[in-house]
Amino acid sequence: MTSKLFTRRDFLKLAGVGAGTLALSACGVTLPAAADPQTGVAVSTPGITPSPTSPALIVDLTAARATVPILSGAETPVWGYQASVREGAAESLQVLDGSYLGPIFRVKHGQRIQVKLKNELPDPTIIHWHGLRIPEEMDGHPRYAIAPGKTFDYDFTVQNRAGMYWFHPHPHQLTGQQAYYGLAGLFIVSDDEENALGLPSGEYDLPLVIQDRLFDAANRMVYMVNGMMDQMTGFLGDTILVNGKPDTILDVKASAYRLRLLNGSNSRIYKLAWQDGTPLTVIATDGGLLETPVTRDYVMLAPGERVELWMDFSTRNDAKLVSLAFDGGGSAGGMMGGGMMGGGSTLPNGVPLDILRVRVGEKGEPVSPLPQRLSSIARHRMEDAVNGKNPRSFTLAMQGMIHTINGRVFEMDAVANDEIVRLGDLEVWEFVNLEGGGGGGMGMMNMEMPHPMHMHGVQFQVVERQIDRNFRKQYEQVSAGFVDEGWKDTVLVMPGESVKVLVRFEDFAGTFLYHCHNLEHEDAGMMRNYRVES
Ligand code: C2O
Ligand code: CU
Ligand code: CU
Repeated sequence: MTSKLFTRRDFLKLAGVGAGTLALSACGVTLPAAADPQTGVAVSTPGITPSPTSPALIVDLTAARATVPILSGAETPVWGYQASVREGAAESLQVLDGSYLGPIFRVKHGQRIQVKLKNELPDPTIIHWHGLRIPEEMDGHPRYAIAPGKTFDYDFTVQNRAGMYWFHPHPHQLTGQQAYYGLAGLFIVSDDEENALGLPSGEYDLPLVIQDRLFDAANRMVYMVNGMMDQMTGFLGDTILVNGKPDTILDVKASAYRLRLLNGSNSRIYKLAWQDGTPLTVIATDGGLLETPVTRDYVMLAPGERVELWMDFSTRNDAKLVSLAFDGGGSAGGMMGGGMMGGGSTLPNGVPLDILRVRVGEKGEPVSPLPQRLSSIARHRMEDAVNGKNPRSFTLAMQGMIHTINGRVFEMDAVANDEIVRLGDLEVWEFVNLEGGGGGGMGMMNMEMPHPMHMHGVQFQVVERQIDRNFRKQYEQVSAGFVDEGWKDTVLVMPGESVKVLVRFEDFAGTFLYHCHNLEHEDAGMMRNYRVES
């Protein structure tokens, strides 16, 4: 593939600190594979069996400032992860040349991973491995944040099934800003079950990170320019980037592709569709493959969520992925009128957008039919939950000018009584979005706001959605786009909606986070600890 996403031409230029060393290590992992992402092949070639005893992959990962070409003209200062393999297969890291995005890990189920994080940023940071089932100390809780100049050693074994997970910073109240300036990367896990399917792999397996950004006249990214407004709605840019580049054109071959999409935006929600109305064929969600492919006219993708599509380009010349219009909330009732609320982004959540164009070129690998059986998913059953009749309920509401969970905001070490669960238990958790629903007594403000709720350390199953009748009309613009058939770690909860999930706390005792993945909501306190006790 000769997509502009993977050009070798644009080298990441490092500004300031340790430029020599870092540039070298960045180049060190820019194997032929990066220009031609054959790197994926090594892990997805049938016959290579992941083994729990395979040697550890040891990676040096530095968070540092850099500049990259994004728009025409001046390069953009960014914050990025530069990585190199210290020990293990070089193709375990795939670098997106010239992008601020961090490396793509390509690892196997059962593999031991050691990451040496070095903080060369001017602020504290820590990495959270979104979606991974790992111990508390490895999970990037803000209390583990390291100061500038310091290091943190990660060491964990990949317990997750095949799927696309990701990593991003999680320092106290700085997550939104650090992710916005570029710190994020993908963590793709393969396993035997998946390898046996013969899904499109190598150059036919394309990870695509969708983000929105706002630039000033000097091509610098600007953040939180609308003050309180941005904090309430979340920060929204007006330029769509895919893998860190605008106006993306994917040059593909006439063949079938696996498109792995991550919404890496701070707060923008996408209603993804093929522009010509071709239904989307969905094969995976946050926690990996579905049991069978499903089709949707459109798919909702909120911040933090992933969805994987299968698409046969062999019978067409081009395609365009767009985000369709929907009512994205953020409008306020009560005393503050729409005019004041409209003072934020020029492109509020829910406006139609172009995401990327696909240009189909020469003939590629012959298309093998998509298997109708992709994996098996053991269904959690409501009757097996310890609290099936009495869901643990989390009310999302606005208090004062901030969004809260059960009336609380984040406290570094606090765990409330209703935030303690037992190791091994299967529970029902219910997220109830009361915002805009006559949340009652707020006085000033009654804002309708979607919240993508995320739990650390687990994968869950969505079992029930209910919508308040007053919100039915706007809900119908999005509700056919949820993919609840598979494993999830982030679930979009629309205004007036309650969502029940079944979750088993099966791996580790410890303190983990749950929060809204609208990163401005999170940083403003819409996050809490929960504790798993053995
Ligand atoms: Cu991607 Cu705490 O989350
Ligand atoms: Cu997470
Ligand atoms: Cu939120």
